[in-house]
Amino acid sequence: ESIPHATVWEGQILPGGVTTPDKMKAMQDMVFDENDVIIVSYPKSGTTWVSEVLSAIAYEGNTEKLKQVRMDERVPWIEMDHRCWDPNSPVQASAKGPVRDGKKQIWFSHLHLDYLPPTARAGKCKVVYVARNPKDNAVSYFHFHRLTTFMGLQKDMKWNDYFPLFCSGYICVGNWFKHTLDYWKFTRNNPNAKFVVYEDLKKDLMGEMQSLEEFVGIPLTPEQRLEVVKHCSFDSMKDNKMTNREGLAVFDHGETKFMRKGIVGDWKNYFTVAQNEAFDELYKSKFEGTGLSFEFE
Ligand code: PPS
Repeated sequence: ESIPHATVWEGQILPGGVTTPDKMKAMQDMVFDENDVIIVSYPKSGTTWVSEVLSAIAYEGNTEKLKQVRMDERVPWIEMDHRCWDPNSPVQASAKGPVRDGKKQIWFSHLHLDYLPPTARAGKCKVVYVARNPKDNAVSYFHFHRLTTFMGLQKDMKWNDYFPLFCSGYICVGNWFKHTLDYWKFTRNNPNAKFVVYEDLKKDLMGEMQSLEEFVGIPLTPEQRLEVVKHCSFDSMKDNKMTNREGLAVFDHGETKFMRKGIVGDWKNYFTVAQNEAFDELYKSKFEGTGLSFEFE
């Protein structure tokens, strides 16, 4: 059974109309280097949040300048943005040039590790993986399917119909467990890769930011840090037209918002007792012995 509007490439289910098999092939030749930082994530795990934090670091804390540039301009989506893969585009696939305004070029991607361009996998650039506890991730992704049609599923789909799809991975970008665990292994003992967790950002944004500064080699001053933490709060990003994705044609913000709730534990409003038990079993079977665990509240 196929998912309407989705693209399938080498067994990967990808957002239709956004990613095409041709783009996927072309982007394998992108050349990344030490000027590049790629944020990789399963959708809805905090990509936009980390994009803003890393942009702010790359802009050396200049939030005024950040407020003048839309996030999708500053942090191109590798799978979609023609500047990333189109050899005729002015910015070329070499990941250099006018896209970069700060000290580093920041990109984002939802690609599974197997499909990340080889130069990125080989450690030529920095990779920041963002993960979120899978229960909240599932709920956020459920709402995202109601925000846009390019993920393929029906906008009026019910939670109970969506839940098994998330568990099996029969949705755009595929299986959460594989995505997360592959990158977990990739980031272990890899000086060019870092694993960042949504719940940690919620607990200590300042501390996590400092660790990202160190990782990309751009230290901020304590004053700049305070300013960036304020700039990157949920409320501030929700009201910021450059980050809240309102006004983008692909989203219908009528029923739900891209900047929806921004909390830990919303899954409790959706998971039934039976779904929670089944999910805990699945989680245990996949995560036991991996050394990776999440906080769910
Ligand atoms: S996407 O489409 O994959 O890029 O989405 P992504 O940015 O990964 O995830 C969106 C969820 O992250 C929440 N968000 C935040 N939470 C806390 N603080 C800040 N600053 C913040 N910015 C974005 C956003 O609200 C989505 O989560 P939910 O649970 O749906 O609210």
